[in-house]
Amino acid sequence: ERLVDLLRTAPKAELHIHIEGSLEPELIFALSQRNGIAIPYASVDELRRAYAFSNLQSFLDIYYAGASVLITEQDFYDMAWAYLLKAQADHVIHTEIFFDPQTHTARGVAMKTVIDGLYRACQDAQAKLGVSASLILCFLRHLSEEDAFATLEDALPHRDQFIGVGLDSSELGHPPEKFARVFARCRELGLHLVAHAGEEGPPEYIWSALDVLKVERIDHGVQSTHDAALMKRLAAERIPLTVCPLSNQKLCVFPNLADHNLGRLLDAGLCATVNSDDPAYFGGYMNDNFLQTFAATGLTAQHAYTLMRNSFEASFLAPAAKRAML
Ligand code: HPA
Ligand code: ZN
Repeated sequence: ERLVDLLRTAPKAELHIHIEGSLEPELIFALSQRNGIAIPYASVDELRRAYAFSNLQSFLDIYYAGASVLITEQDFYDMAWAYLLKAQADHVIHTEIFFDPQTHTARGVAMKTVIDGLYRACQDAQAKLGVSASLILCFLRHLSEEDAFATLEDALPHRDQFIGVGLDSSELGHPPEKFARVFARCRELGLHLVAHAGEEGPPEYIWSALDVLKVERIDHGVQSTHDAALMKRLAAERIPLTVCPLSNQKLCVFPNLADHNLGRLLDAGLCATVNSDDPAYFGGYMNDNFLQTFAATGLTAQHAYTLMRNSFEASFLAPAAKRAML
């Protein structure tokens, strides 16, 4: 019907996608053979059957295991290219892609290999698909701030190949304050700043992501509805939340998609957006997120327009490029 067509074909921006979370089981198996790296699953089907999660950590364990097959520059290119084709099919015309270098450098893969492969795919996306794509380097919050600083040093020769930094992995027990100094340094370097906060963690982590890390966007942020003062601030300052409905459903942040608070966030005037997070693991890319969420929650065409507009407003595109896409 008309709302479904609108959701499918509307030009949109994606702002919360972990490229390692776009690695489909078929590509994991292909790369495991190409690189001679064993994985503890006998088949694509067996791997896919393991994708039953109870919380964030149960997902992260299998997500890091899947990423272990990535070795060469071409592997990183192939992973990103596969995602960018899906993005194009879903009418994503701009995407800001997270990557987790520590997952790779800890295994002996060079920073240059990771960034060059991903960056080449982003350049080809603009030239061959008409999709604008940039990269955001994420620090793993279960590791130390010292490790994050070393990762930043390692990445600085590639400063022109990524636009910002983020903070992901296990949230509970790893509050934003742990990374105050490394984010301050990134801010001095003129990098854009984002952080996962309020996915499983409390509203206090959203406050400190804003006030201590000084991030420009909050990734997830769905726990903000438990804090009225925070909701007021997020709305007043138009601080974007990159919401990931299918992720929240699969990681049991909400019992059912129908219980998702996206409608509440939008109706409270927050700049919420819809994103896929880890589409190979959570059952769908951008349009799957839009279609399933709208079907389950009864959001309207007006909400759809607001979400599309929010996605460009919340992006790190230059103001002129933003206006051109709006
Ligand atoms: N949360 C935290 N870390 C992650 C996620 C997520 O949803 N996806 C990949 N790394
Ligand atoms: Zn995420």
